[in-house]
Amino acid sequence: MEGSLPHGRAEVRTLSAPCRSTRLTPDNAERFILDNTTLQAPPHVPEVRLHLADEAHDLWQRTEDELAEIGLPPPFWAFAWAGGQGLARYVLDNPQTVSGKRVLDLATGSGLVAIAAWKAGAGGVTAADIDPFCAAAVRLNAAANGAAAAFDGNDLVGRALDADVLLAGDVFYDRAFAGRLIPWFAELARGGTDVLVGDPGRSYLPRERLAKLAEYQVPVTRALEDAEVKRTVVWRFG
Ligand SMILES: C[S@@+](CC[C@H](N)C(=O)[O-])C[C@H]1O[C@@H](n2cnc3c(N)ncnc32)[C@H](O)[C@@H]1O
Repeated sequence: MEGSLPHGRAEVRTLSAPCRSTRLTPDNAERFILDNTTLQAPPHVPEVRLHLADEAHDLWQRTEDELAEIGLPPPFWAFAWAGGQGLARYVLDNPQTVSGKRVLDLATGSGLVAIAAWKAGAGGVTAADIDPFCAAAVRLNAAANGAAAAFDGNDLVGRALDADVLLAGDVFYDRAFAGRLIPWFAELARGGTDVLVGDPGRSYLPRERLAKLAEYQVPVTRALEDAEVKRTVVWRFG
């Protein structure tokens, strides 16, 4: 992972987690999420409530190594990333973008963008992420908003899609991931899929392929971003 995870070691509290030898199950993933997050509204999308970690939880203060030791991938699902908040805001304020359409929220994390698409009247919503914790996070968060979203845990990058709109919040933070996404997004856009991206200026954003739709100032978690607010743009991939 490049450029997005803090590596400062904070005071270590006991983390209530599925232990090393415990297999991840839907039940213990849900328990873990409920024990380590609070139901709250992301600041830029107050109409959605999510199970999120904040400064009161030490989830992100731990290094990747510490998390790996207790069997956890970095908990992306525990935060509403700036790109996702911007994209969710755009979809809610411009419901025609998704209304009646089949929508895929790629790299869904918490499920924020998928839930926003459902609220904006999408004809069907799938939330996709390769982190198995996201299945439980999306289930809990969708339920908290009375929303419906299917979850797909496969790596869909490069595959043909059964969707009219692809939404991707905050995905250009990693060179290898971006390198796979860019040709796939280009191919999908050529084939008629509306590909929209929310991004706060991550390192691997392919600016030359993007048309700006909206710009927001999104409040973010200081422990993650070393900033209070991130200028975040919603782009159409062309
Ligand atoms: C920075 S988070 C963004 C989460 C959410 N979209 C948001 O904006 O709050 C990036 C997400 O990408 C997911 N991810 C990484 N590689 C992926 C892949 N090949 N397919 C789907 N999701 C992937 C990670 O698991 C993580 O949940």
